[in-house]
Amino acid sequence: MPPRRLQFVGAGDFLATGDEFLGHLVDLAGLEPRSDVLDVGCGIGRIARPLAGYLTTGRYAGFDVDPRGIAWCRERYPADRFRFDLVDLRNARYNPDGRLSPLDFRFPYDDDAFDVAIMTSVVTHLQAAECEHYLRETMRVLRPGGRLLATFFLLDDGSRAALRAGRTTIPFHDFEEAEMAVSDPRLPEEAVAYDARWVRERLDVRRIEPGTWRGTDGRSYQDIVIACA
Ligand SMILES: C[S@@+](CC[C@H](N)C(=O)[O-])C[C@H]1O[C@@H](n2cnc3c(N)ncnc32)[C@H](O)[C@@H]1O
Repeated sequence: MPPRRLQFVGAGDFLATGDEFLGHLVDLAGLEPRSDVLDVGCGIGRIARPLAGYLTTGRYAGFDVDPRGIAWCRERYPADRFRFDLVDLRNARYNPDGRLSPLDFRFPYDDDAFDVAIMTSVVTHLQAAECEHYLRETMRVLRPGGRLLATFFLLDDGSRAALRAGRTTIPFHDFEEAEMAVSDPRLPEEAVAYDARWVRERLDVRRIEPGTWRGTDGRSYQDIVIACA
């Protein structure tokens, strides 16, 4: 459990959110104790923590742009099974002075290296071209039949109606026709929503679980998308 000053990954309960997503990975993405797992934008190990107690022969790899989170995780997880990479990629919200563009970034893993990939609250902070590139790279490193569990704010009939009625927890702007909408035009990376059709055109989507951000009941806060490699 990282100290409070290092918890830059969201306002929710760190332990409960990690445990919640371990359940989603098992129930929705076919995670098994022997699965090899990639955690894109792994932050401060919110998902790595429950995986450390769950994976047996499976290996874990995560990368992020924040040196504090990566340094903390490297010191605490067994290096033979848990690998954490720091990459100095630019993100206006999380790493404004980063040297590298995420658009040119090839994930540092071989093709077909993982059974399950997870992106929790990551594409919600990426611009459209970056998101598209990350989805493609994730599919490259997943084995055929592998699963991606990614969280999104999806724009569809339900969420657009909720946005019109002011029922959502986040007020996205210009969402009617857009492929991508943001909550703060001055800092787009604060929160980004994607049109559900745009996502389906880029991923082999097998399941969507609408989230409570829409002002309705849901399995999680953000929408969960399960896609197949
Ligand atoms: C809201 S936090 C979520 C962290 C983690 N996925 C979790 O659920 O605890 C968003 C994370 O995305 C990372 N991030 C931002 N831009 C990134 C990029 N281009 N590549 C990888 N990670 C990025 C941030 O540093 C931050 O750790």
